[in-house]
Amino acid sequence: MEKFFIRGGNPLKGTVYISGAKNAAVALVAATILCDEPCTLENVPAISDITKCLDILKSMGAVVKMEKEGVIYIDTSTINTTKVPYKLAETMRASSYFLGTLLGRFHEAFVPMPGGCYLGDRPIDQHLKAFKALGATDEVVRGANYVKADKLVGNQIYFDFVTVGATMNAIFAAVKAKGQTIIENAAKEPHIVDVANFLNSMGADIRGAGTDVIKIRGVEYLHGTTYATIPDQIEAGTYMVAAAATKGDVVIANVIPKHLESITAKLRKCGVCVEENDESVHVWVDGPIMNTTVKTQPHPGFPTDMQPQFSTLLTMAQGTSKVTEEIFNNRFRYVAELRKMGADVSVEGGKVAIIQGVPTLKGAPVQATDLRAGAALVIAGLAADGLTEIDNIHYIERGYEHIDKKLRELGADITRVIVPDNEHVEMTS
Ligand code: EPU
Repeated sequence: MEKFFIRGGNPLKGTVYISGAKNAAVALVAATILCDEPCTLENVPAISDITKCLDILKSMGAVVKMEKEGVIYIDTSTINTTKVPYKLAETMRASSYFLGTLLGRFHEAFVPMPGGCYLGDRPIDQHLKAFKALGATDEVVRGANYVKADKLVGNQIYFDFVTVGATMNAIFAAVKAKGQTIIENAAKEPHIVDVANFLNSMGADIRGAGTDVIKIRGVEYLHGTTYATIPDQIEAGTYMVAAAATKGDVVIANVIPKHLESITAKLRKCGVCVEENDESVHVWVDGPIMNTTVKTQPHPGFPTDMQPQFSTLLTMAQGTSKVTEEIFNNRFRYVAELRKMGADVSVEGGKVAIIQGVPTLKGAPVQATDLRAGAALVIAGLAADGLTEIDNIHYIERGYEHIDKKLRELGADITRVIVPDNEHVEMTS
């Protein structure tokens, strides 16, 4: 078992380069199924969720070659099954994207129930609603979603609420359907735009991505393309918050500052200095961190995927902060871990955290409960006095490329330690 050992207290300093976006790249990999020729993806992050998505493609007969770090050649013309293996599907939410892409290309998909971080109940009813609108049927067979259609015909799809996953899947199923599909109340996240751009670069006809109405005219053939993934907004935001929490001075490079606006605005509200440049943001602290209120919202609101990290910063702010989680109904499980480090947080009704700032956190043995919770604990450990030992770091590696290396380059004292199962490690401070 691997753990991170972090000796806190070093202000982060220097430049960090942001990798390709996880939540775009997982969708791009699945979308290669719609391409009738080989294609090449660039700026693909080396994270475990991508490895699993590529494993799904390989398990179905696709040819996948890593040309160099971050550049992957994919030929899905050799796919010989529409079934995704249970073991791969059950480990991540993004496996649900194979429902839309296999349905879009082969008019059939068998995908075991998606897994992923436990953030509360995560049904896929809106995904299935979209498939049905286009003429597909769905049933649960041996614990898997089985969708099929004799033909897919464009239609109007209205989502009951904003959902990233269902918007992606609606696009996938519609891109080769006959006629026009109109998706209303669509998600507007940067990764939705990235996927639409990728498909359009193959010859798809998708307009309006990034607004809440997306119009798709089905096409018969999608040609090969080479396409680079956008930078990861959440990885960037995590380093911005880490810089603030350690009272550091960091340039976060290779970003699209517009995608970071809601994070930048909240950091400034807390007294953190943020300067936006063309492709980087510079974050530093020259005074106390102040309390604020945060409410998570679909894009362009404050992202739920930054909620644990930002809440962690607020545990060290002056005064009382209030954080409301509007997207998921169980995204405060990390609070129990932060309390072990001396944070003063109470959670009301599973949706609202009241955070009373304390002067410093104290190092402790803690466990990552999911991906962003793990990132939050890394930030807590970097800022805390003494040694923090983080267990379950495999969650963190689902979404952060080389996080320990990148942090070391910024001056952090973070080590990856292999600990035999059940072995107790004596904490020295
Ligand atoms: N929902 C339903 N039914 C549906 C679809 C969604 O009830 O058919 C609910 C969800 O349970 C949730 C809300 O609607 O309460 C929003 O879900 P959404 O579909 O927007 O999220 P997702 O597609 O499951 C993606 C990201 C998450 C990110 C959310 C919100 C991927 C692979 N996952 O999940 O990323 O939190 O959008 O932005 O893109 C992460 O990276 O740590 C992460 C959890």
